[in-house]
Amino acid sequence: MPMSKDFEDRLFPILQNMVEQPGFETPFHIYDEVGIRKTCQQLKRNFANVHGFQEFFAVKANPNPAILKIMMDEGFGFDCSSVPELYLATQVGAKGKQIMFTSNNTSISELLVAQKYNCIINYDDISMIKKGGLRDLFCCRYNPGPRRDGNEIIGKPEESKYGIPHKDIVLAYQLAHFEGAKRFGLHTMICSNMRSRGYLEETVEMLLGLIEEISGATGGILFEFINMGGGLGIPYRPGESYLMIPQMAKKIEALLANFKSRNGYTPKLFMESGRYMTGPHGVLVTTVINRMSKYRQYIGIDASMSALMRPAIYGAYHHITVPGKCILTDIEKEKVDVVGSLCENNDKFAIQRELPVTEIGDLLVIHDTGAHGYAMGFNYNGRLRPKELLLREDGSVELIRRNERIDDYLATLNFTRQIFTPKKMEAIT
Ligand SMILES: Cc1ncc(COP(=O)(O)O)c(C=O)c1O
Repeated sequence: MPMSKDFEDRLFPILQNMVEQPGFETPFHIYDEVGIRKTCQQLKRNFANVHGFQEFFAVKANPNPAILKIMMDEGFGFDCSSVPELYLATQVGAKGKQIMFTSNNTSISELLVAQKYNCIINYDDISMIKKGGLRDLFCCRYNPGPRRDGNEIIGKPEESKYGIPHKDIVLAYQLAHFEGAKRFGLHTMICSNMRSRGYLEETVEMLLGLIEEISGATGGILFEFINMGGGLGIPYRPGESYLMIPQMAKKIEALLANFKSRNGYTPKLFMESGRYMTGPHGVLVTTVINRMSKYRQYIGIDASMSALMRPAIYGAYHHITVPGKCILTDIEKEKVDVVGSLCENNDKFAIQRELPVTEIGDLLVIHDTGAHGYAMGFNYNGRLRPKELLLREDGSVELIRRNERIDDYLATLNFTRQIFTPKKMEAIT
């Protein structure tokens, strides 16, 4: 979705002045505090009548402490998938049960760290139960396999490496119960960028049905919570529909009420949305540095896919605007590929997109980069990631992560020399 009119009205009038200040030059991702807080507050309002509703912001979507601090202020917990993410969550003050640790292909050392932080460990495989970390509260990630469709970003559940398959799910809870677990939760995460509320409601229904089945097979264990995962979608293209969150929350309320009438209790509802919370509230601001005419017309900008991977790896659409040149007016337009500088031909932010004719030095704003944007960046080709800025509620702009420098790129080459001469196997035996 093109960025909100509100965000545009706050950002565009100050953009030129900003990029002329030393330290605020392009390229950068900039996030909108007002928009993020508004979305957080709307989510809480929509789910106010859903028993124990709690959002655990998916740190992987935007792992910047300034953003995590906003989530913390709004009363959210965190979904962490690695030890560095756990560290970030604790750095902004999250503790114990405010963090869910949903890792996969987990090592014993990771499990021990999660245990040390006393967070809710979400078991991704039945073999993990025997590896340690089992607490009185047990939760695992369920993979329904062919019982559900996935979508193009996350793939089909039956082809996915995540979660405990249907054939083992009851056994996992029996085992955990036997090993001493006393409190239980159930989690799943099977879709990504889903704008159909029916699919997400069906996921909640699936989890509620499953906890009834597990209770029945384990002599009546009760579930404190179900976690429907993230995957709430946003419209990236102009004209795409919005996910109808208020209607979805009402339907979930009704599903929980039905569950209560059958079972006499209500589990809390947890969610771990990332994209929906911050995605539309971030943009990547870049400058046109080249106009190139080859078999196609190319616009070269001062950012590369190291700053935003989604178009290259998912073929994802990100809307682009040229501040001050509205495509809807009778301004001169051209069809272009918008490209970065990587030696990869998929380093393109847009392919054959109609845009206003730009000149070298024009600003180009790439929309919806507030989630899975900076976070997915990488350093192939020695391309460095840009800085991150936060447009504060009072209109000031704060640097919340500096741009990478060549010394960051070279930092791992600064180490103590170590040499070992291995022996052949025959020499050892
Ligand atoms: C386990 C888990 N939870 C939550 C999320 C957040 O997903 P989204 O940003 O689509 O809401 C992800 C994303 O990959 C995930 O893997």
